[in-house]
Amino acid sequence: MSTKNASVEARDVSAAPTKRSFGSRAKTHYKRWWWVHLIVIIIVLLVVLLPVVYVAYPKIAQTDVNESTLKITRMDISDPTPDSIHLAQTQVLGSHSTFHPQIFAFSASVSLLGAAAPFASVQVPAVQSKNGAAIDISQTLSLTDTTAFGDYAKAVMLNEEVGLNIYGKPVLQEGALPKTTITYNKTVTMKGLNKLKGFNVTEFSILGTQPDGTNMNGTVLIPNPSVMTIAMGNLTLDLSVAGQPMGQSYLKNLVLKPGNNSVPMTSKVNDAAIFKLLESDTKKYGSGIIPFDITGNSSVYNGQNLPYFTAALAANKLTVELNVGAALGLHSST
Ligand SMILES: *[C@@H]1O[C@H](CO)[C@@H](O)[C@H](O)[C@H]1NC(C)=O
Ligand SMILES: *[C@@H]1O[C@H](CO)[C@@H](O)[C@H](O)[C@H]1NC(C)=O
Ligand SMILES: *[C@@H]1O[C@H](CO)[C@@H](O)[C@H](O)[C@H]1NC(C)=O
Ligand SMILES: *[C@@H]1O[C@H](CO)[C@@H](O)[C@H](O)[C@H]1NC(C)=O
Ligand SMILES: *[C@@H]1O[C@H](CO)[C@@H](O)[C@H](O)[C@H]1NC(C)=O
Ligand SMILES: *[C@@H]1O[C@H](CO)[C@@H](O)[C@H](O)[C@H]1NC(C)=O
Ligand SMILES: *[C@@H]1O[C@H](CO)[C@@H](O)[C@H](O)[C@H]1NC(C)=O
Repeated sequence: MSTKNASVEARDVSAAPTKRSFGSRAKTHYKRWWWVHLIVIIIVLLVVLLPVVYVAYPKIAQTDVNESTLKITRMDISDPTPDSIHLAQTQVLGSHSTFHPQIFAFSASVSLLGAAAPFASVQVPAVQSKNGAAIDISQTLSLTDTTAFGDYAKAVMLNEEVGLNIYGKPVLQEGALPKTTITYNKTVTMKGLNKLKGFNVTEFSILGTQPDGTNMNGTVLIPNPSVMTIAMGNLTLDLSVAGQPMGQSYLKNLVLKPGNNSVPMTSKVNDAAIFKLLESDTKKYGSGIIPFDITGNSSVYNGQNLPYFTAALAANKLTVELNVGAALGLHSST
C-alpha cells in the first residue's frame, strides 16, 4: 500500500510540471541548470571578447600607430667623439585617433632611410599617445655603425630633405585592456643642410702673418635651414682656385645653429700664389675677383678627428668669389 501511494505521489510530481506556468518551469530549469547557462554565457562572452581584445584591439592599436605622424622639432648634436654623440631631441606626435594609449619606454634603432644598417639605438621614454604629445630625449648615443652615421651626416649635408627612420617594438596599453606589442616603423622627413646653399664670406682682410701663422681673417655666413644644432668642433677647410691649392681656412669651435650663422674665420693663404694668379691671368682675374673652391679637410673635437663630419664636409664643394684684388689694394675698391 505504502509503495503504491509512493508511486502515485511520484507520478503526481512528474506530471505536475506540464500543468505549471512557463515562468515557474523556467525558474526550476534555471535553478537546476544555472551553471550550464553561466558557462555558455562565459563562452559566448569570451568568443566575442577575446577576438576584440586580442585581435581587433592590437590591430586597431597598430593601425593607429601606422597612421600617426612624428615631427622632429629640435635636434641638438653635441659632444661628438669618433664613436658617440650626445643627442637632445624633441619630437611631437601627430594622431587623430580617439584612443590615447600609453606607450611604454622602448629602444628604437635610428637609420638613414634606405640604409642597410641603423647608426644608433635611442631609448624613447614612455608617452601617452595623443595629438601634440612631445617626447624629449637627451642621451649619449654610441654609434653602433660609424659608416652608417657618416652616410647620414653626408645626406644631411647634401640634401634639402633627409628621411630618418625610427624602428622599434614598443608595448602599448589602452586603459584596462591588456598590454600589446606593436611595431613602430616611422620615417621622419627632416630638412637637411642643402649643401650649405648661401654660404659666403661676408667680409675678410688680408693681414701680415699673425702669431698663429694665419694671414687672413674674416666672417663667413653659414645658412642652416634645418632644425639641427650641430657641434662640429674645429674645422679646417682647404682653399683652391681652379684646382690649385691656395691655403686653408679655420673655423674654431663651430656650433651650427638653425638659421644664419655668422662665424669668424681665419686663414693661412698662399698670397704669393694669389698675386701670381692675378698677374698672370689678367683676362680671367683682371677684376681682382677670384672664385675660391672650399672643401672640408677635417673636423676635430677635443683633439679627436671626427671622420663622419670630415667626410660630410669633404663631400660638399663650396665656391665663393672674393675680391682679393681690392683686399690687396691692387684695385681701388672705393
Ligand atoms: C602597419 O604598417 C606596416 C608597414 O610599415 C604594415 O606591414 C602593417 O600591415 C600595417 N599594419 C596595420 C594594422 O595597418
Ligand atoms: C619600415 O618600413 C619601410 C617602408 O615603409 C620598409 O622599407 C622597411 O623595411 C621597414 N623596416 C623594417 C625594419 O621592417
Ligand atoms: C657675399 O657677401 C658679399 C659681402 O657681403 C656680398 O657682396 C655678395 O653679394 C655675397 N655673395 C652672395 C653670392 O650672396
Ligand atoms: C681681422 O683682424 C684685424 C686685425 O687684428 C681686426 O681689426 C679685425 O677686426 C679682424 N676682422 C674680423 C672679421 O675678425
Ligand atoms: C640668411 O641670410 C640670407 C642672405 O643674407 C637671407 O637671404 C636670409 O633671409 C637669411 N635667413 C634668415 C633665416 O635670417
Ligand atoms: C688636409 O690638410 C693637410 C694639411 O694640413 C694636407 O696635408 C692634406 O692633404 C689635406 N687633406 C685633404 C683631404 O685635403
Ligand atoms: C679647438 O681648438 C682650440 C685650440 O686651438 C681648443 O682650445 C679648443 O678646445 C678646440 N675645440 C674643440 C671643440 O675641440
